[in-house]
Amino acid sequence: MSDTVKSLAVVGAGMIGASWAALASAHGIGVSAYDPNPEAEVGFRRYIERARAQLAELGLTGAGTVSFSADLATPLEGADFVQENGPENEAVKRKLLAEIDELLPPGAIIASSTSALVRSAIVADCARPERVVVAHPFNPPHLVPLVEIVGADPEVVTRAAAFYRTLGRRPVVLNREMPGHIANRLASALYREAVHLVEQGVASVADIDAALCNGPGLRWALMGPHMTYHLGGGEGGIAGYLAHLGPSQVRRWQSLGSPSLDMDVQTKIVAGVAEEAGGRSIAELEARRDEGLLALLKARTLVSE
Ligand SMILES: NC(=O)c1ccc[n+]([C@@H]2O[C@H](COP(=O)([O-])OP(=O)(O)OC[C@H]3O[C@@H](n4cnc5c(N)ncnc54)[C@H](O)[C@@H]3O)[C@@H](O)[C@H]2O)c1
Repeated sequence: MSDTVKSLAVVGAGMIGASWAALASAHGIGVSAYDPNPEAEVGFRRYIERARAQLAELGLTGAGTVSFSADLATPLEGADFVQENGPENEAVKRKLLAEIDELLPPGAIIASSTSALVRSAIVADCARPERVVVAHPFNPPHLVPLVEIVGADPEVVTRAAAFYRTLGRRPVVLNREMPGHIANRLASALYREAVHLVEQGVASVADIDAALCNGPGLRWALMGPHMTYHLGGGEGGIAGYLAHLGPSQVRRWQSLGSPSLDMDVQTKIVAGVAEEAGGRSIAELEARRDEGLLALLKARTLVSE
């Protein structure tokens, strides 16, 4: 199945849909997109053009065609795989996935990009829920390799993971559904403490951000926290680390904060971010981020894979 995906239907052609479309077409896969808002096409095509230029820098220059329709049935005709990227709203996704399931021939897989909704809730109205998986990417999916997969049928999960691998992604599979999947839970745990440090006036927003990207963030692009501590344990590895430094980890966990996001904290964060941004617009910062991501992707050698 993985090497037989020739036609990808992208349902919902906003930012994430456009990024998936760019990635698939750069791998030579034909993309047919649907969005109920016909005006979405202009932004969709503009995004793809910019993303294709970035992908070309990574050597991905496939010639997959991209079509757009404001009618759902058209892109589903002959689609081997569907990536749903509609609004993050349970009722909308539930209805949309049921419609796709009804229109799409059996056998083809439906994947939802949902960030925070759980699979069991959004497949509730599908006649064939077993062929629907959550496949959550990280923004922008054409550059960030992670895809988190949650499914009910192991064979469907395996086929979906194989497809994402053909797109150069790194699928990870959840054994059971969990709000926020894996990566956003890790990000939320970290963000909670970052907000706590602002709330407590421990350091400036810019210094808290700098502490992450100039320290652990550098290593985390190469190896995750478990492997990092395996190396932190010296000759004894992770077992040695847990035996010797585990208790100090637990003590630190006990001192972690549980901040609120009241107006006072929000004001401090907004002012701190404005200072850190130094007058640069979001578009400028995004361009800088993508430039940096491209450079990292070219340079990166994963330690544990
Ligand atoms: N933005 C992120 O960082 C990010 C990251 C990973 C996953 N996601 C997920 O991807 C999905 C899309 O997010 P986005 O940021 O691209 O949003 P977006 O607002 O940019 O795009 C959503 C698109 O869906 C269209 N739409 C509206 N109703 C629809 C319907 N009934 N059927 C199909 N399309 C419909 C809209 O016209 C719009 O073009 C969400 O589920 C979100 O949780 C977002």
